[in-house]
Amino acid sequence: MGLRNRWVIGNWKMNGSLAGNAALLGAVAAAPSSVGKLGVCVPFPFLGQAQSALAGGAAVWGGQDVSEHASGAYTGQVSAAMLVEFGASLVLVGHSERRQYNAETSDLVARKASAALNAGVTPVICVGETLAEREDGHAEAVVGQQLSACREVLLRAQGAAILAYEPVWAIGTGKTATPAEAQAMHAFIRATLRVLGAEAEATSILYGGSVKAGNARELFSQADIDGGLIGGASLVAADFLAIAAAL
Ligand code: 13P
Repeated sequence: MGLRNRWVIGNWKMNGSLAGNAALLGAVAAAPSSVGKLGVCVPFPFLGQAQSALAGGAAVWGGQDVSEHASGAYTGQVSAAMLVEFGASLVLVGHSERRQYNAETSDLVARKASAALNAGVTPVICVGETLAEREDGHAEAVVGQQLSACREVLLRAQGAAILAYEPVWAIGTGKTATPAEAQAMHAFIRATLRVLGAEAEATSILYGGSVKAGNARELFSQADIDGGLIGGASLVAADFLAIAAAL
């Protein structure tokens, strides 16, 4: 169809257990091939399990964060090369929960995206404004600044990076951006990519924030929404696969 890949990616956040993941990964592995691509971003300790369950199938897997460094004395960090050793092809960078709880700046997010790209891992660069920023009329300025900080890596990626627009006020709140609100921001993001000189038409831009089976189809049918980044609903196989079927 279009120039862009269409994705549904699950972000498990800090959830799961070896025993509990088995059925979920089994269901993802058995998902019927849809029009789009399916991925799961799991906690680091479960990368090997995801690799065993999904290798050879259509779904891909990855981490939820990556170090900006290649190796060295960085206790607790995980390098992009280590992700590659577990077959990971995706990694989230700059999720709002990391920006908020781990004080990650947009410049650090850009360096992490760069480290991922250097190792051949697709960075899923997350951007989005808080409720206060939206209410103050600053949503586009905030997202624009987050994108500008990643200019260099976006240019280098030549469409191989994925962007995820996740308004912070819609994450885990049950409050989804309306399809029109989300589309408006996605169009702004694509326009900003154009201004930055990045491959705007080839870059997949996913929406995240309380996506459910019931609202996925309308969101995904918007011109500039190329799929979704799914939190809570990605933990329930039937819900996650129903969302994927809406691509
Ligand atoms: P929810 O789908 O639980 O709102 O989470 C969205 C998200 O943060 C995905 O990265």
